Amino acid sequence: MKAPPPPGTVDVASIGEDVRLLEGLRTSCAIRRLRPDPVPRELVRKVCEAGTFAPSGGNRQPWSFVAVTDRERRAWIAERYRRVFSEYIAPAVRAAESPDYPAEKRKVLSGAVHLSETLHEVPVHLFVAGHTRRGLPQPQALFPAIQNVLLACRAVGLGASLTTIHLTFREEVDAFLGLPPDRPSIALLPIGWPRVAYRRPVRRSIDECLFFDRWEERGTPR
Ligand SMILES: Cc1cc2nc3c(=O)[nH]c(=O)nc-3n(C[C@H](O)[C@H](O)[C@H](O)COP(=O)(O)O)c2cc1C
Repeated sequence: MKAPPPPGTVDVASIGEDVRLLEGLRTSCAIRRLRPDPVPRELVRKVCEAGTFAPSGGNRQPWSFVAVTDRERRAWIAERYRRVFSEYIAPAVRAAESPDYPAEKRKVLSGAVHLSETLHEVPVHLFVAGHTRRGLPQPQALFPAIQNVLLACRAVGLGASLTTIHLTFREEVDAFLGLPPDRPSIALLPIGWPRVAYRRPVRRSIDECLFFDRWEERGTPR
């Protein structure tokens, strides 16, 4: 893996502009092994700006992006994330002790555990917050914007993944971030320079899940 570009050498205007759209999205995957090196603020701005080109109902554009970079604030978030995640993942960790545990699931598990154990070192904790309707958060309004940010990270050479574990303690974290109750956070994207290469993610064949005119049974769905 390439070392991250030295600070001050990133040409934010040109970085990522040459990545072809479909090839980029076919090689976008969850990257949870990240370096602690800082990410320039202008680059954070660039990937978040990509988020703002997403569609939204009535073009309401309900997103706010809160990029936490301060070391102590990241430690505060990471400590809570780790606590909740380790409880959530415990049954899978136990199941993975069996030699029959599928190798692909084991990789995802090990990546997710690694992220939770190193989150305090990840240089950018990007929270994406939205809006409420009749008091309820509207996560679906942010799906396209979040995916755009992930794809922009891929284009500019950053590693990122989508996480939602913090929703368990959302009220506490939102207060910490200064988000009012009608602007709830929906996702946390840990972002940094990757320690691992981009890869084509493991996916079911499209031929298993594309239908024309009518759905039909094709073996056991996952
Ligand atoms: C709605 C949603 C919530 C997710 N929450 C988490 C999470 O809390 N922690 C985590 O490590 N990954 C989380 N992920 C990432 C998935 O585990 C990841 O997309 C999946 O393993 C596929 O990874 P790949 O693209 O590298 O194949 C989430 C993904 C989605 C779509």
